[in-house]
Amino acid sequence: MRFRIAQLSGDGIGPEVMAQGALVLKAVGQIYGHTFELENALIGGIAIDKTGSSLPEETLKLAKASDAVLLGAVGDPKFDDPKIKERPENGLLAIRKELNLFANLRPVKVYDELVDGTVFKPEVIRGADFIFVRELTGGLYFGRPKKRWETATMRKSVDSMCYNDREIGRIVRIGFELARSRRKKLTSVDKANVLESSRLWRQVAVEVARDYPDVTLEHMLVDTCAMRILLTPRDFDVLVTENTFGDILTDEASMLAGSMGMLASASLSGIPQPGARTFGLYEPIHGSAPDIAGKDVANPIATILSVAMLLHFSLGLEREAAAVEKAVSSVLKAGHRTRDIIGASNNPVGTSEMGHLVIKALEG
Ligand code: IPM
Ligand code: MG
Repeated sequence: MRFRIAQLSGDGIGPEVMAQGALVLKAVGQIYGHTFELENALIGGIAIDKTGSSLPEETLKLAKASDAVLLGAVGDPKFDDPKIKERPENGLLAIRKELNLFANLRPVKVYDELVDGTVFKPEVIRGADFIFVRELTGGLYFGRPKKRWETATMRKSVDSMCYNDREIGRIVRIGFELARSRRKKLTSVDKANVLESSRLWRQVAVEVARDYPDVTLEHMLVDTCAMRILLTPRDFDVLVTENTFGDILTDEASMLAGSMGMLASASLSGIPQPGARTFGLYEPIHGSAPDIAGKDVANPIATILSVAMLLHFSLGLEREAAAVEKAVSSVLKAGHRTRDIIGASNNPVGTSEMGHLVIKALEG
C-alpha cells in the first residue's frame, strides 16, 4: 500500500530523532511491501526563522493532505524572551488545534530491562503499564481570556481553564473505549475539590460511564495522582485528564520508563476503532533538548515508538506496528542503551546507532 506522511522535524534534537524514525518507516516499507511518501515541512523555531510563522500555511496544507503526521520536537531558547510574540510552541499548539487533535494518547510502559536503570525500587515499578489520555485542544492552553495587561499600579495576567460538556464527554469516551480494550479500569483525574471546570469534568465522566458498565471508573485528584504514580504505578490502567494536568503528569510518569526519551504519543481527532484508520499526529513527548542537539546522543526510541503508533492508529497496519515494538524490545533486551537510559552499563550507543540497531532487529 501507499501512504503519505508529513514529516515535521522541528527544532533541536527533532531532526536527529526524526531521521531515525523515518529510516525505521522506510525499513518497514521494504520488509512489508508498502511505500511511505515522506514529505518535509517546517514547524517551530526553524519555521519562524525561514517564514516568520511557527506554522506556515503550507505545512498545514500538507498535514491535511496526508494520512498521518510525524513530528520531532519544537522549541529554541533564542525565543525565550517573554516579549517575543511568535514562539516555536505556538506552531505545535496551532497544528493540534487546526487538525482538531483533541485526544493525546501517551502510553507508559516499564520495560523489565530498564527497571534497574531508573531511580525507583524495582519491586514498585516492575510491570507498570498504563496509558494517559490527555485532552489536547482545550483547558488552560487555549481558554479565553488569555492575556496580560497593566493597571495604574500593577501588571496583571490571566489564563482560563475552560471546558464545556462536549469537550469533556468526547475525551472521557476515548478513555472508556481504551479501557474496554485493556484491563477495564479508567481513572479520571481532576481537581474537583477546588476547580469548577473539574466539577463539570467529574459530572460528565459519571454520565458517560453509564454507557460503559463493564469499565470501572474511579476519580482521583491530580495531586493525589501525582503521588500515586510514584507510589503504586501498577494500579493504573487508563487515565484521562485535562490538558495541563496531562502535560505535567506525563513528564513525571516518563521517569518510570527510565527517560522522557522512551515515551511516544499519538494525537487523534476521534475514537480509534480497531482495524479502522484514524488521522493523527505522532510525536515523542520530550522536547527539543537544545543542550544535546547535534551531538548524536538523543534517544530516538520515543520517536520510533511513535512510528509504531502511527502504523497502528492511522494506517491500520497492526502487524507492522507490533514488529516495530518488538524490535525496540529486543534491542533493549540485547543490552543496547542510549545515554539517558544507561543505568549500570557504561557503553552508550548514539542516536543513529540506536536507530540502526532497531532496523537490524526488524529485518531479523
Ligand atoms: C508536550 C510539550 C508541549 C506541551 C510544549 C512543547 C508546548 O510539553 O507535548 O507535552 O506543553 O503540550
Ligand atoms: Mg510536556
